[in-house]
Amino acid sequence: MLRWLSLGAVVLGVVSDFSFGKILKTASEMLTHYDFVVVGGGTAGNVIANRLTEDPNIRVLVIEAGGSNEGVQLLEVPFFSQDIYKTKAYFWNYTTTPQVALAGKSFFYARGHVLGGCSSTNGMAYTRGSAEDYDKIANITGDEGWSWDQLQYYIRKHERWSTPTASPMHFDPSAHGFHGMTEVSLSSVPHSIDEIMIKATEGNSEFPFNIDYNSGRPLGFGWQQTTITSNGRRDSSATSYLGPKFIQRSNLHVLLNHRVLRLLPAGSPGAHFNAVEFVEIVDGVVGPQHVITASKEIVLSAGSVGTPAILLHSGIGDSNTLSALGIKPLHHLPSVGQNFTEQPAVAVHWLVNDTNTSEQLRNNSLAAELLDEWENNKPSLLSAPPSTHLGFLRLPDNASVFENTPDPSAGSNTPHIELFISNGALLSPLPPAGNFLGIVAIGLTPVSRGSISLETSNPLDQPLIDPALLVHDFDRWALREALRLARRFVALPAWKDYILEIFGSLATADFDDDSRLDEYIQENAGMALHPVGSASMSPVGARWGVTDPDLKVKGVYGLRVVDASVIPHMPSAHTQAPVYIIAERAADLIKESWGIV
Ligand SMILES: Cc1cc2nc3c(=O)[nH]c(=O)nc-3n(C[C@H](O)[C@H](O)[C@H](O)COP(=O)(O)OP(=O)(O)OC[C@H]3O[C@@H](n4cnc5c(N)ncnc54)[C@H](O)[C@@H]3O)c2cc1C
Ligand SMILES: *[C@@H]1O[C@H](CO)[C@@H](O)[C@H](O)[C@H]1NC(C)=O
Ligand SMILES: *[C@@H]1O[C@H](CO)[C@@H](O)[C@H](O)[C@H]1NC(C)=O
Ligand SMILES: *[C@@H]1O[C@H](CO)[C@@H](O)[C@H](O)[C@H]1NC(C)=O
Ligand SMILES: *[C@@H]1O[C@H](CO)[C@@H](O)[C@H](O)[C@H]1NC(C)=O
Ligand SMILES: *[C@@H]1O[C@H](CO)[C@@H](O)[C@H](O)[C@H]1NC(C)=O
Ligand SMILES: *[C@@H]1O[C@H](CO)[C@@H](O)[C@H](O)[C@H]1NC(C)=O
Ligand SMILES: *[C@@H]1O[C@H](CO)[C@@H](O)[C@H](O)[C@H]1NC(C)=O
Repeated sequence: MLRWLSLGAVVLGVVSDFSFGKILKTASEMLTHYDFVVVGGGTAGNVIANRLTEDPNIRVLVIEAGGSNEGVQLLEVPFFSQDIYKTKAYFWNYTTTPQVALAGKSFFYARGHVLGGCSSTNGMAYTRGSAEDYDKIANITGDEGWSWDQLQYYIRKHERWSTPTASPMHFDPSAHGFHGMTEVSLSSVPHSIDEIMIKATEGNSEFPFNIDYNSGRPLGFGWQQTTITSNGRRDSSATSYLGPKFIQRSNLHVLLNHRVLRLLPAGSPGAHFNAVEFVEIVDGVVGPQHVITASKEIVLSAGSVGTPAILLHSGIGDSNTLSALGIKPLHHLPSVGQNFTEQPAVAVHWLVNDTNTSEQLRNNSLAAELLDEWENNKPSLLSAPPSTHLGFLRLPDNASVFENTPDPSAGSNTPHIELFISNGALLSPLPPAGNFLGIVAIGLTPVSRGSISLETSNPLDQPLIDPALLVHDFDRWALREALRLARRFVALPAWKDYILEIFGSLATADFDDDSRLDEYIQENAGMALHPVGSASMSPVGARWGVTDPDLKVKGVYGLRVVDASVIPHMPSAHTQAPVYIIAERAADLIKESWGIV
């Protein structure tokens, strides 16, 4: 019986290779040209690929540097999202430049290198940011289409809320889409801190409860919403937008394990880009090089690091800098790679009076049992990440820091700080004993601006990645305040029998002492991995920016950018939802340009 089944599957596989759209095995299977070439099969790129191929006459090629996500358990089990880090197999091998505000340390810089991009490797938190964040994008670009109200259609086109209605109503249904593409759900796993979180926040004005932080008004603490399916699987852009229903479209080709080197002009230098030069790279071994043309557009969706790097290697950037590197400048656009913005973050942990935390999984036989349950679609600790609640908080209006720095938030309903609550440690390596409460304090509205630039003219060399973490006084001020807020939060009476003591070097710290907190931050801070802004939108005709509000690269024909790099300011959010929302509208903008329905 089993033999028959597997034989059947093989035969079907062969048939589908010839008659349906597919994952190409080699570049030799490509058509001679496509209508659109999407560079990067990541979070945004797969949205574009899906929407454009809704029209059977439009032929789309996606070129993705990484391999397949198919059947990789590490990428499927939500709890394992923390472990993807340890293998590094599904990330680009990126390191930041030395960070001056963090004692000159360099950091591993995680970016997904697999179909689905970061959506295949991220923490799955689904947060949109505030309505004001989108209204600010509309204001910066002069395009009302980016406002919160006008994006509601695209939010719902993307989201498929999937928490069973029988579950507790820990969300506001009026804020959600139920018929979109990517599943969003509440945790199916109860945690002992759930009740404490409710008790601590109810009626508390400093740490209020918020039934749904995705309503456009995120302030307060709420239940975590994640891009996880109702049966406890990660839902990425690869599993949703390129799911089985879509990947078999005959007009969609996806080429894996091929890295784009640069974009090539059609003729008259710099005016029209219509070709993509790329090379096969499998397990680090560089193979043959190819060129493919796009008769309509190239859509650059290589992410906040990849997109500016490809533009620069193509001669699109600051002409003087490019010439100095030996790259022929084709189009002077000095903002490429500038304004790269990242959120600083630092974790703090407490030892707790409870064994019911994720540290239970130190017990290997329990971990094996739970994996078995997960495989059989039974909810278990592994069906959700260890994070349970997110708190979005504002600095007070009279905070002294505002005497020197204008408020960087998008408005009075927009948080500066996030406290990301975890029922277990987010420490690597995990201490051998003890149970933990973890809080990651995130600076959501950084003022520091970094950059993506090139060190050499070789597109296979990694770009210089400088998130400029905590360089601005405001960002250090906000992160110190975030640590104080975290400590005040767990000091609320609701936590009395639960919290034992603060863990690690803060145990003896005076939290009123700025220099002591700065020291802790210097030793322990990292980042949220939510970069934006490196190929920013700006108004039509602006002297800065990389794309117009319709995401076409300024002054160039045939080239658009659709990914996190176009977002002109940091939303007060984890960035996957903003990227999906922007990509859904971008697909319509592209269709409109070409009369595609
Ligand atoms: C470890 C981690 C955890 C995160 N956690 C969360 C979270 O919990 N919630 C949240 O909202 N956000 C989270 N984020 C951020 C969020 O996932 C990203 O902001 C978002 O997915 C970025 O989408 P994108 O389309 O801009 O880029 P990506 O999804 O990175 O897509 C870019 C794609 O382009 C490919 N590519 C790049 N260069 C080339 C090239 N030269 N040739 C061919 N292909 C190329 C890449 O391999 C990749 O697949 C996390 C990110 C990371 C890395
Ligand atoms: C990663 O990059 C570093 C240099 O930044 C290099 O030394 C190392 O060999 C690379 N590792 C892999 C697996 O490519
Ligand atoms: C942006 O907001 C500012 C301040 O409220 C306002 O003066 C300006 O007209 C707005 N611009 C656009 C294009 O909406
Ligand atoms: C852990 O806590 C949850 C929620 O309170 C509960 O359902 C579960 O039974 C607890 N597990 C153990 C081992 O105590
Ligand atoms: C960075 O962004 C700001 C707007 O937020 C803009 O005024 C400035 O010109 C940008 N800088 C560059 C180099 O693009
Ligand atoms: C480890 O888990 C197994 C399976 O659930 C259980 O039988 C055993 O008692 C646990 N061991 C310890 C030390 O808790
Ligand atoms: C800010 O205002 C609050 C009351 O709203 C007050 O308690 C606090 O002392 C003020 N802080 C500063 C720095 O002025
Ligand atoms: C631990 O929790 C129990 C109740 O579950 C409580 O009786 C005890 O006082 C707590 N211990 C500490 C040190 O808080």
